[in-house]
Amino acid sequence: MTDTNDLSQLEADILKAIDAAADLAALEAVRIGTLGKKGSVSQQMAALGKMAPEERKEFGQAVNLVKTRVSDALESRKALLEGAALEARLRSETADITLPVRLGPLSEGRIHPVSQVMDELIEIFADLGFAVAEGPDIETDDYNFTKLNIPEEHPARQEHDTFYFNPGEDGSRLVLRTHTSPVQIRTMLKQKPPIRIIAPGRVYRCDSDQTHTPMFHQIEALVIDEETHMGHLKWVLEEMCKAFFEVDQVTMRFRASHFPFTEPSAEIDIDKAALGKPGEWLEIGGCGMVHPNVLRNCGLDPDKYQGFAFGMGIDRMAMLKYGIPDLRAFFGADLRWLKHYGFSVLDQPTLSGGLSG
Ligand code: PHE
Repeated sequence: MTDTNDLSQLEADILKAIDAAADLAALEAVRIGTLGKKGSVSQQMAALGKMAPEERKEFGQAVNLVKTRVSDALESRKALLEGAALEARLRSETADITLPVRLGPLSEGRIHPVSQVMDELIEIFADLGFAVAEGPDIETDDYNFTKLNIPEEHPARQEHDTFYFNPGEDGSRLVLRTHTSPVQIRTMLKQKPPIRIIAPGRVYRCDSDQTHTPMFHQIEALVIDEETHMGHLKWVLEEMCKAFFEVDQVTMRFRASHFPFTEPSAEIDIDKAALGKPGEWLEIGGCGMVHPNVLRNCGLDPDKYQGFAFGMGIDRMAMLKYGIPDLRAFFGADLRWLKHYGFSVLDQPTLSGGLSG
């Protein structure tokens, strides 16, 4: 084909095909069939080589024009089709964000009551200005006992039913911490007063029956300042219990007791009235003013600083608040139990929104 009329016909056919291409794939097929290596326009270009010079000049210009117009037409059709494809995708992917969360796999999972109670307590104490501190489950004998004013051979060591590791070469022993109180030591060693922390976590004692498991949970609190006293301790505990049990009034009882790391020391009982059983007392933990020896062991001057500490059983608090009868079931990993007593992943406890949903 060396005729410019034929060329016009070719161009017209191509432009028609471009217009008719319904999607990007069809358009690409037209492009390959025209401007591709063996395409119809490319073949015309190739034919130029065999022509006489004058003929070549005229026909060459004509072919070049066709090529340019075909390219332009391909480009604009492509832009149009891409725009339409995007439009269609956007339409098909619209999301109505006002719809409620769809119950998917997330709703299957459950928050364990212990985690729930920890989150609730952290929320309550955060509101009172306490920070969360942590320590390891595997603790040194020194932090778990000695620095807490429980020297070697002290009877309190036996009372704790400790899990000991084998002694190291230097004779020092690691233990599974028997309480969260070593976090007091860790905090005071690295932070100067004023101190206001809580430390929730696992603790271990070699003890197992209906009301004891070898691993359980405690929450420790420590406040050290220059003028902190027992009145503050009582107030904090009362506020905590009211917020935790979501009641306006709680009756508490402080029974004189003994812990080597506090002086004076008390055991904390609460009246189960809040739970519909007035007159029945439940022991929830121990407390007291931090012993001067403990302050000294952490490099704090007991003539300048004083403060209080308490430790409570989290599992017990969970049983009490949520009416869970058997402690051992907490750690049975029974999915039916977890489904029954567990909490929704999507409900975060907050003081403003309600702790327990
Ligand atoms: N650590 C004590 C226990 O486990 C509780 C406690 C903590 C008592 C802090 C007084 C002060 O029994």
